[in-house]
Amino acid sequence: MLDRFPIDRKAFAGPVLVTGAGGCIGSWVIALLARAGVPVVAFDLSEDKRRPRLLMTDAELASVRWLTGDIADPAAVRAALESAKPAAIVHLAALQVPFCKADPILGAKVNVVGTVNVFEGARQLGVRRLAYASSVAAHGAMEEGEGVMSTLYGAYKYCNEQTAKVYAQDWGVASVGIRPGVVYGIGRDQGLTSKTTFAILAAAAGKPYDVPFRGGVSWLHAGEVASAFIKAVSQDRSGAPVFDQNGAYVTVEEGLALIRKVAPSASLTCSGAPLAFPMHLPDTALRQYLGDYGEVPLAEGIRETHAAFRSLLERGLVDATSLP
Ligand SMILES: NC(=O)c1ccc[n+]([C@@H]2O[C@H](COP(=O)([O-])OP(=O)(O)OC[C@H]3O[C@@H](n4cnc5c(N)ncnc54)[C@H](O)[C@@H]3O)[C@@H](O)[C@H]2O)c1
Repeated sequence: MLDRFPIDRKAFAGPVLVTGAGGCIGSWVIALLARAGVPVVAFDLSEDKRRPRLLMTDAELASVRWLTGDIADPAAVRAALESAKPAAIVHLAALQVPFCKADPILGAKVNVVGTVNVFEGARQLGVRRLAYASSVAAHGAMEEGEGVMSTLYGAYKYCNEQTAKVYAQDWGVASVGIRPGVVYGIGRDQGLTSKTTFAILAAAAGKPYDVPFRGGVSWLHAGEVASAFIKAVSQDRSGAPVFDQNGAYVTVEEGLALIRKVAPSASLTCSGAPLAFPMHLPDTALRQYLGDYGEVPLAEGIRETHAAFRSLLERGLVDATSLP
């Protein structure tokens, strides 16, 4: 699966610092970079390498320098940058929708202050390449954005896009923002929209599962979004453009039918209201801006994710005893 994505090792003169490296997308980013031989420094709140281990060999993981720290702490971020001396930063550390709702102040510290810390560190140390994760949820916070749902998480992400613009305007700190839709794949195990991945895991484990939303969603493969982040920092950029990224826009019902093609006895259903995020927005502008970063057709992505889950279940690396 990792071989699908074109990573240009020669594009990097120094290490890439990946914040939130222990998360789903972070795991794919460090796995792709390490496999390509690009030096990687991981930064995360915890030492937990459970998700990267699902994708990487022990040797690949050992090649990653792992720093722990709180992205909301300016001194910790600055120290990490001084120690890593990165040629590029991929900033992914964040709290997802339910965590921001449960603790709005912590959400703002991690998602908003944490992002300011990264931009400030990049400015002070002169890091010229920076990509960060916004979200499809940011649309709900825009005056003229698509979609109606407005979450604190989306408001924080939108604030980060504005922070990026001012850092480019006032100090020439260039960045690329990517607004992923619903990401699926190995390592996706938390957050509002992780349920499509749980449906694939349930099928692999022979368990019934109900996805608590229906209708059109994006099926954006975790490797595809990770590859786009890497491509975004593969060359110097200017300004602070932000792009939507949704992969395939397909209903939950159709996605479940694709899972049943590889697991005919799977007992999968969906219920509830459709998600209100504007996940139909195309990836065309991102693809034009970045060039080729690989693509995973949905049927293949589901087949390969199902096969990977079967293997991980057999090896005891993934647990499907209780599926949220
Ligand atoms: N997964 C999706 O569908 C999706 C969609 C849109 C945007 N995004 C964004 O992409 C990024 C990565 O998403 P993901 O799915 O990999 O998330 P995730 O929840 O799997 O991982 C987030 C990582 O950030 C780390 N983290 C949390 N608080 C931290 C702190 N205070 N300091 C340092 N590290 C901290 C966590 O330990 C975790 O490893 C996030 O910014 C997220 O908001 C994700």
